[in-house]
Amino acid sequence: MLKRFFSSTATLPESAAVPRHIAVIMDGNGRWAKKRLMPRVAGHAVGVERVRDIVKACGDRGVEYLTLFAFSSENWRRPQEEVSRLMELFVMALEREVEKMHRNGVRLRVVGDLSRFNERLRELIAQGEARTADNEKLTLTVCANYGGRWDILNAVNTWMKAHPGATEISEDALSAYLCLPYAPEPDLFIRTGGEQRISNFLLWQLAYSELYFTDTLWPDFDAAALDLAIASYQKRERRFGRTSEQLVQP
Ligand code: IPE
Ligand code: IPE
Ligand code: MG
Repeated sequence: MLKRFFSSTATLPESAAVPRHIAVIMDGNGRWAKKRLMPRVAGHAVGVERVRDIVKACGDRGVEYLTLFAFSSENWRRPQEEVSRLMELFVMALEREVEKMHRNGVRLRVVGDLSRFNERLRELIAQGEARTADNEKLTLTVCANYGGRWDILNAVNTWMKAHPGATEISEDALSAYLCLPYAPEPDLFIRTGGEQRISNFLLWQLAYSELYFTDTLWPDFDAAALDLAIASYQKRERRFGRTSEQLVQP
């Protein structure tokens, strides 16, 4: 049974040196490839390598939850060839990496509307999740065909079906039906690739996350770049609506 977390904004979290939960929009693969006169999909292939590095780096640094935006509900709008190649890369990554993840204590979760994926991919996702279900070092959540608005609507609709006749839903009830009920809300949000937008990522869960934007393109985002993001996070003062003075412990 996965442990459930309620909103982490209600009480002040311990000011941990390392964020417990990091959420990342891995952007810039296409531009990375274009700069090298390579097809966009070559950037995605290198991007997969960075996923492996960053999962390892997060584990080494004691991050407990890493959530990665791999494919948005809007990414179906891309050329058919690029979408197919992204699906192939996803299949290959699952085939190659699940055993390694398991050995390294990584628990894999894949969230989003998986019904649009082909059967092979859905099967690999189910197998990967089952294989790694009992691991505790780091929970890696991959958001695939995910959209923040879809997440909220899906939660409300599922909750309504489970509670016929009910007319009001609470924050805690809603949170429990969203895609990440097992994780505290992200402490640190990172977007690579220079754009400063959320692109329909975790709309509900990012309410009080510290935001970090970098021009570094995802295929160049290495452990040193992760450390810069964490260092920036460590300089922030998280107040959750309070004043600075209220944070001083007696
Ligand atoms: C992010 O890189 C990867 C996915 C959206 C799957 P992009 O493919 O968006 O790269 P840019 O933004 O075009 O450089
Ligand atoms: C966001 O990147 C989605 C992922 C990284 C999977 P995009 O590159 O698709 O975002 P927009 O559309 O430029 O905002
Ligand atoms: Mg992009």
